[in-house]
This record gives sequence, structure tokens and C-alpha cells, in this order.
Amino acid sequence: MRILGIDTSCDDTSASVVGEGYEIISNVVSSQTEIHKKYGGIVPELASRKHIEMIWPVVDEALNKAECVLAEVDAVAVCCGPGLIGSLLVGCGFAKAIAYAKGLSVVAVNHLEGHIFSAFLEAHKPEFPFLALIASGGHTSLYLAEGFGQYSELGRTRDDAAGEAYDKIAKLLGLGYPGGPVIDKLAREGNPRAFDFPRAYLPESFDFSFSGLKNAVRLVVTEQPAPIADQTLISDIAASFQSAVVDVLVRKVEWAIVKKGIKRVVLSGGVSANSGLRKKISGMADERGIELFMPSPALCTDNAAMIAAAGLHRFKSGNIAGLDLNPKAYLPL
Ligand code: KG4
Ligand code: ZN
Repeated sequence: MRILGIDTSCDDTSASVVGEGYEIISNVVSSQTEIHKKYGGIVPELASRKHIEMIWPVVDEALNKAECVLAEVDAVAVCCGPGLIGSLLVGCGFAKAIAYAKGLSVVAVNHLEGHIFSAFLEAHKPEFPFLALIASGGHTSLYLAEGFGQYSELGRTRDDAAGEAYDKIAKLLGLGYPGGPVIDKLAREGNPRAFDFPRAYLPESFDFSFSGLKNAVRLVVTEQPAPIADQTLISDIAASFQSAVVDVLVRKVEWAIVKKGIKRVVLSGGVSANSGLRKKISGMADERGIELFMPSPALCTDNAAMIAAAGLHRFKSGNIAGLDLNPKAYLPL
């Protein structure tokens, strides 16, 4: 069994071949960071145009690396949302075209289910039930996963996603796009207690909120003469901001563990690649005897292997999409 996965939900064009047992045979990700960097965020129109240019070379490379041809895959799994609609249309249109030409099945995969399935691509696979934190550029939600396809949302962000907050703070500090990796690096050199930024714990709720934090950082930054030249100050702001984000994410997961009595936690989405989050949540998991599943950083950020993994499961359960598959920008899990 071989599934060709395709993800064009945002700014990365990705294709992957995944085999039985969620084995990654190939996983190719073509990043558009260089294009969007100068704008401090993703420009949707440019993203779709680049996907059109890259989709075939990326799929071709994934097939070559997997040493197979299209006719040898069993199905094409494609991300059908949520995401940027122009970008999604490229992946879905391409997947339907190659499937029609080669007589293959198309499997539609929700991007968020893909993120959850990134945990199944590692050697140590989670068993149900588990809690899944998806923290990315577009989403920050906590789910209770009770089985394949059985996910209930416990909470979600009421404003910015965690990754979005990272990207906006990085832009404010003149650190470029994407903000997560650079703030993560600077935070390691800074003092996390230099600024007492607010943590929105929102008692009795599993929801998140990062807009107050973002505003508090903005106030500190705008008080300084621009651009900030003091590298220690930049690192201290980064460390204090990151500490506030991580505290909230870990506290919410911990609260869900207590309230729901669940002993397994899956981390996924780009922000899960964060070293501060990985360290703090590992400490909490050790203390509480929780089994923690953290995909390697490259599988936390967008990739088609996670789409193929979720697609593999859907294909086996006969969940096939028609050639009328239409992606959706807003698509709850
Ligand atoms: O999952 P992802 O690749 O795409 C979406 O589905 O949104 O997540 C991208 C987000 C960006 O906001 C990026 O800044 C953030 O993940 N990110 C990080 C790190 N690496 C990527 N945030 C914090 N620390 C990181 N190391
Ligand atoms: Zn994503």
C-alpha cells in the first residue's frame, strides 16, 4: 500500500509517499519563505501562483525519491482545507487531475487531522484516547481524540493563533518571517523574567487568547527608539514573550489532563517545534506520568506526509472523495 499525499494549504508545496504502517517513503517540502519574507507574512495571491509552478516538480520528486511512478500508488490524499483557498485549489485540482488520468482514488484530508496524524509517522505511535494540542500559524486548538475520525474540540483560540502571535511579534521586532524559529532561537539567549507579560489563562475554559499578550509586547516595543539596536533587549523581549505563550499552552494541556483523566498527549503544528514548549511540556509530562508524543520538528510544520498518513487510514476505511471535491478555506475538524 502506498499513498501519495499532497499539501498546498498555505505557503509550502509538499508531496510525500507513505506506506503501510505510516512509513515515510519520501517527503518533499518546497518552502516559499523567501518570497513572503519581505512582506512580513504570506501574500495569498503569490502563494497560489508559486504552488502552480511547484506542484508538478514537487510531486515528481516525491515519486522519484520513493522509486515509484504514479500508476503504482493506491490513492492520492489531498488536503482540502482549512487554509488559503487559492492555495488549496491548486492542490485539489492537481490531485483530481492525476487521479482521473491514472484511475486512482482521491482521499480528502482535513489539514488539522493531518497535523494530529504527524504523531503516527514516528516509531512510537499513540493509542487512543489522547489529547491533541494543535498549535500552528492558523490554529491553536485542543482536542480530545477518542478514535480515528472521532475528535472533539475542547477549546480554541478566541483571537490569534499562537504561531500568528509569534509571526506578528517577530515583524514588530524586525526579525522577518516566519517568526517562530527566530524568536525560539533568541529566547534561548534572553531572560524570560525580564518582562512580566500577561498570561490569559481564561479560567474554566480550554480556550486560548494571545491578543492581550501581543498588545503588551507591542507597548514595550513602541516605547523604545526604533529600530531597537540593543540585542540583549530583543532577546529578553523574545524570551519573556515565549515564556508567556508556553506557560499558557502547557497549563491548558495540564488542566485538560486533570479534567478529562487522559494520560496521553500529542503535540502538533508548527509551534510544537518550539524548543521552550517541548522542554516545559516534557517536564510536566514526566511529573504527571503522562505519555507524550512530539513529532520531530520537521513533521510538526506543514508537510504532506501527515496528509498521506491520515489519507492512508481514510482510504482503508473506504472514505473516498469524488472528482467534485471542492476545498474549503474554513473547515472544522
Ligand atoms: O503548522 P504550520 O507549519 O502551518 C500552519 O498550519 O499554520 O505552522 C506555522 C507556524 C508559523 O506561525 C511559525 O512561526 C510557527 O509555526 N513556528 C514556530 C516554530 N517553528 C514554526 N513557532 C514557535 N517556535 C518554533 N520553533
Ligand atoms: Zn498546518
